[in-house]
Amino acid sequence: MSALSLFDRIADGLADTGYFSIPNFVSRDEALAIRDIAIRHKEEGEFRRAGIGKQIEYQLEKDIRGDEILWIDNEDTAPSIKSYLQRMEELQNFLNYTCFLGLKEYEIHFAVYPKGTRYARHSDRFKNNPHRVISFVLYLNPDWEEEDGGQLAIYLEGKDPVFILPEAGKLVCFRSEIEHEVLECNRARYSLTGWLLDQPVGLTFL
Ligand code: OGA
Ligand code: MN
Repeated sequence: MSALSLFDRIADGLADTGYFSIPNFVSRDEALAIRDIAIRHKEEGEFRRAGIGKQIEYQLEKDIRGDEILWIDNEDTAPSIKSYLQRMEELQNFLNYTCFLGLKEYEIHFAVYPKGTRYARHSDRFKNNPHRVISFVLYLNPDWEEEDGGQLAIYLEGKDPVFILPEAGKLVCFRSEIEHEVLECNRARYSLTGWLLDQPVGLTFL
């Protein structure tokens, strides 16, 4: 399939239902190469617990959101990640051209959900973070089965939830305001998670 028709289908999915899921957006080998990089950073102790707010105590926070993350420097990263970032830049340009979304930049981090962790139902676009327009997640987990849990549940208004297995090479994109959840994982779950923003990254923390 040409890149254009794939991007067309992503744009249609985002406009119609609000999400789109693409198995094998990158090859299994590419996904495993990126996963190896993530595991190396994890073993070197570079990941940090992801925060949801300072006011909540540690254990409660961990029950709500148990992932650990490592932000990626878009300008200085491994070739396999760079080529994925280039495709996301092309997608960003395409969405601006076809859907007038006014996307300016993207931010992206590795995430690992250790066994037994989850991320409770939430939206990625909220008062403290209003510039996230499209969320996108590339999954990096070979041979992931139903019983491994860790599905992404997407809650579309008036519809049954959609459950997506975090299988190596799959990309899922959704409008950031849509509520979603990561179900409890029964083994470590790796991904590259990012957002297309309507403001340059440096300005989003103002
Ligand atoms: C997030 C998130 C979904 C996923 O990091 O905000 O919702 O499937 N991730 O990893
Ligand atoms: Mn989210």
